[in-house]
Amino acid sequence: MTDSPPQTRKGIILAGGSGTRLYPLTTGVSKQLMPVYDKPMIYYPLSVLMLTGIRQIAVITTPEDGSQFRRVLGDGSQWGLSLTYIEQPSPDGLAQAYILAEDFLDGAPSAMVLGDNIFFGHGLTEELNRAGSRPTGGTVFGHRVHDPQRYGVVSMDEEGRVTGIVEKPEVPPSDYAVTGLYFLDGRAPEWARKVKPSARGEVEIVSLLEMYLAEGSLDLARLGRGYAWLDTGTHASLLDAGNFVRTLQSRQGIQCGCPEEIAFEQGWIGAEDLRAQAARFTKTEYGQYLLRLI
Ligand code: G1P
Repeated sequence: MTDSPPQTRKGIILAGGSGTRLYPLTTGVSKQLMPVYDKPMIYYPLSVLMLTGIRQIAVITTPEDGSQFRRVLGDGSQWGLSLTYIEQPSPDGLAQAYILAEDFLDGAPSAMVLGDNIFFGHGLTEELNRAGSRPTGGTVFGHRVHDPQRYGVVSMDEEGRVTGIVEKPEVPPSDYAVTGLYFLDGRAPEWARKVKPSARGEVEIVSLLEMYLAEGSLDLARLGRGYAWLDTGTHASLLDAGNFVRTLQSRQGIQCGCPEEIAFEQGWIGAEDLRAQAARFTKTEYGQYLLRLI
C-alpha cells in the first residue's frame, strides 16, 4: 500500500463574533469589515493566508453578516482564490471553527487566522512557509506584548520550547502572547470535537492546542521585534492600527495587506486581471498602486 499524497493546506478566516467591545461602532457592521486606514480589516488576515500560498479559504461569519462579506470578497476568483462561506450560528469558541469547517477541510491541514489580527514584518513569508511546510502537528506564533493578560500566553522551557498555554491569565507565565494564527494538521476537527466546553461554555482554542502539546507536536514560532502584530480590540488600538498602516504606506510607497498584489506576485492572476481590478479603484491611491505594479 502506498501513502496518499499530502493534501494542500487550506485556510480559515474566523470573522464571527458580535464585536461588542467596539460598540457602538460595530452595532450595524461586523468588526472585521471596519476600516483599517484604507481597506476593510479582513484584507489583512486574508493577505497572510495568501502569502502562505493558500488559495482555498473558508470565511466563517455570523448568519447576519455573511452577505456583507460576500459583497466585499466575492467568490475570490478576482484574486485567484476559491472562497467558501460558512455561518457560525453562535460564537461558541474559536476551536468551534474547525468543527464548522470539517467538510470544507476534508482532512487537509489548515491555517486559521482570526479576522481581526494584523501582521506585518520583514521575513513574515519565510516564517509562514516554515510553518506551512510541516505536514503534521501544529504551529502557533508568539509575540511579546506589554499586556499579556489580555491574550493566550505561552510558558516556555529554557530552550524556548512551549510547555503550556493559558488563556487570559491574571499572572502571565511570560510576555509572549499567542497570536491569532494557528497552523494545525488534518486532525484538528476531530480533536476539536473532543474538547469539552469550558466554564464560559466555549470550545476553547487553548484546549485544542493543549492536545497537540500533550503529543509533543506543537511548535512555537517566535515573532521577534522586527514584526508588528497589531491589536484592533479597542477603539484606540483600531485607530492606532490604521495610523500604523497609513504611516508605513505613505513613507514607503507600498501597500500593506493588498490581495491583488499578492495574487499577482504568486502568479495566480495576470496583468490583465490586475488592470481589471485597478479599474474598480481608479479614484484612489490603491487603484493607482495596482496600475504601477504592472
Ligand atoms: C483570542 C484567543 C487568544 C489569542 C487572541 C489573539 O482572544 O482566545 O488566545 O491570544 O485571540 O488575538 P480574543 O481576542 O478572542 O479575546
